[in-house]
Amino acid sequence: MTEPQTHHPNPSGLKRVAVLTSGGDAPGMNAAIRAVVRTATHNGIEVVGVRRGFQGLHEGDMALIGPRDVANTIQRGGTILLTARSHTWRSPEGRAKGAQNLRDWQVDGLIVIGGDGSFHGAHYLQQEHGFPVIGVPGTIDNDLYGTDHTIGYFTAVETALDAVDKLRDTGASHERIFVIEVMGRHAGHIALEVAVAGGAEEVFIPEDAKPVDGVVEIVKQSLAKGKASSIIIVAEGYPGGAEGVSKAIHEGTGQETRVSILGHIQRGGTPVSSDRVLASRLGEAAVYALMDGKSDVMVGRQGGGISHIPLHETWEKKKDVNRDLYRCAKTLSV
Ligand code: F6P
Repeated sequence: MTEPQTHHPNPSGLKRVAVLTSGGDAPGMNAAIRAVVRTATHNGIEVVGVRRGFQGLHEGDMALIGPRDVANTIQRGGTILLTARSHTWRSPEGRAKGAQNLRDWQVDGLIVIGGDGSFHGAHYLQQEHGFPVIGVPGTIDNDLYGTDHTIGYFTAVETALDAVDKLRDTGASHERIFVIEVMGRHAGHIALEVAVAGGAEEVFIPEDAKPVDGVVEIVKQSLAKGKASSIIIVAEGYPGGAEGVSKAIHEGTGQETRVSILGHIQRGGTPVSSDRVLASRLGEAAVYALMDGKSDVMVGRQGGGISHIPLHETWEKKKDVNRDLYRCAKTLSV
């Protein structure tokens, strides 16, 4: 086997890139920042780190960062660059100030690690100021079209699953029904994965607006089959959430239920290997995309390869949940 060629051609003459993290943090964002910094350095390109996402870009909160600044970060959750949901960036004036800061810092291209809200911000910067931007999918929700998975999703699933396993212990001991809410404002990807891996009785996701009342029959059947305790998974975005499902069960069956809303715990912690590897690959690919002269696209992973998807498609086209998993969850709850 020959050594891989590690230097990438630089036809666009890229000299300096900026990188920021934006929106909800996701485990693996640090691994992505590290990959950007080290890929750029390896190819003789400087990196400016922007703190607090687009808010920091607007305020000019920026500094040159190098490979040693990202040492010992690949295993850390959160984001060393900090993140924010910026209001100033929603106005053209706010974005103009940010574009000026990038020019003042002699930055040739911006890499934005975040979800669809962050990609909107990057897209407008490109449209209004012609500034080269590349998106890296970083969100636990896994809800971006054009990539099989997003950075942080795998870790969030493991964290939620660990909680489900623990709740199952106490649920079984008390012969209770546990209704567990996982994150996913508009998407049921985490919920479906956790439902199958956690052996749930039923799962509710925003992509399927089935009526909540159906759960009453499911719980009654489970009781008739001799199941004294059950786990029900509800995605945050399902109308009424876990509280609504729990109320329906209690009113329809008289059974004792408990609700557990896992919340932000799913966003923290050490990224699992799949998130670290995905982040490393996509951080590298983002720098290469700028060097190749690409802009206004997200780098993603599809079927083992790197994809480049126009940013607007990542939110305009809907990424469906895995319907096979949905079916499997139902089949196995017999
Ligand atoms: O987008 C990631 C996410 O964790 C969603 O699942 C959740 O609805 C939202 O962020 C919560 O956002 P915040 O941290 O601003 O409350």
